[in-house]
Amino acid sequence: MKRRAVCVAIRVAGITLAGCILASATWAAPPGLDRYISGDKKSGYVFATPETRDMMDDDFNNPAFLWVEKGEALWSKAEGTAGKSCASCHGDAKTSMRGVGAAYPKYDATLKKMVDIEQRINVCRVANMKAPAFKWESDELLGITAYVKLQSRGMPVAVKIDGPAAPFFEKGKAFYFERRGLQDIACSHCHVDNAGRMIRAELLSQGQTNGFPTYRLKAQRIVSVQRRFAGCNEEIRAEPYPLGSDEYVNLELYVAWRGNGLPVETPSVRK
Ligand code: HEC
Ligand code: HEC
Repeated sequence: MKRRAVCVAIRVAGITLAGCILASATWAAPPGLDRYISGDKKSGYVFATPETRDMMDDDFNNPAFLWVEKGEALWSKAEGTAGKSCASCHGDAKTSMRGVGAAYPKYDATLKKMVDIEQRINVCRVANMKAPAFKWESDELLGITAYVKLQSRGMPVAVKIDGPAAPFFEKGKAFYFERRGLQDIACSHCHVDNAGRMIRAELLSQGQTNGFPTYRLKAQRIVSVQRRFAGCNEEIRAEPYPLGSDEYVNLELYVAWRGNGLPVETPSVRK
């Protein structure tokens, strides 16, 4: 109750987030997690509680694998008028999709913009299978995305931001640092300036995306990166963008780049 009152008072006075955050500069990364740290970059895994980490460390206990299994089944299911499955063209995902998920969003020369992994999968659904695109946040799209990204697990995130990707990267970066919403704060205020501090009852991480799609204990389901972005936007009372919008794909590129070098953890478990 008291914490809430502090935040409301500060918002009314128009003072920014720093005043709203409960000072706790004592957080230090737990030892033994070097695999999840690259230079000054830290995966959300490092900030998670030991219970959450344990759940993620054991694939049999990780509820996200219910979606992965669905994705694995979809991989070899023929759908659409071309009568093909993903496997018809890509064979065994373990080899053909190795490393693919670590490099998205990627520039698409046909669409002349960045596409994220969900969109790339849907390009194949529509153009190559002649099947309808999977809906954003459907169990199907989340499942096949998680299955494709699982094939890069442990590999470093490696998105490219040069060449044709550069202008899109700049847009994503601008979004990240732009103040918005009733609370008038940017992504960076929480995930750069205050990573390692408590906000209300939560320990702020760097907001990395190397674990997505991720199983959220709060939601009791797996969620996409963009659903997470929308949640963070809503939390500061900012209008979220539609999932799949260019704005969020560009933002995805910027945030993925912040985590270049961190291991792909898909499918992660988070609070
Ligand atoms: C008011 C503070 C706040 C703002 C502003 C904010 N977030 Fe978050 N975000 C959180 C909290 C709290 C969590 C859950 C704990 C954590 O991982 O930090 C979170 C989690 C995340 C995660 C998941 C990290 C993981 O390891 O699974 C991502 C990604 C993320 N935020 C991205 C963003 C982006 C992009 C923006 C700007 C559009 C943003 N956030 C703005 C508070 C914020
Ligand atoms: C008719 C053949 C065909 C089918 C069916 C097909 N794809 Fe593709 N896919 C391709 C081709 C061709 C490319 C482009 C290869 C390239 O750019 O090197 C591609 C590219 C991709 C990529 C990007 C690879 C990269 O390196 O960036 C992904 C991811 C992908 N497909 C996933 C899928 C999934 C998932 C399915 C099933 C839902 C599927 N594809 C079905 C032919 C197909």
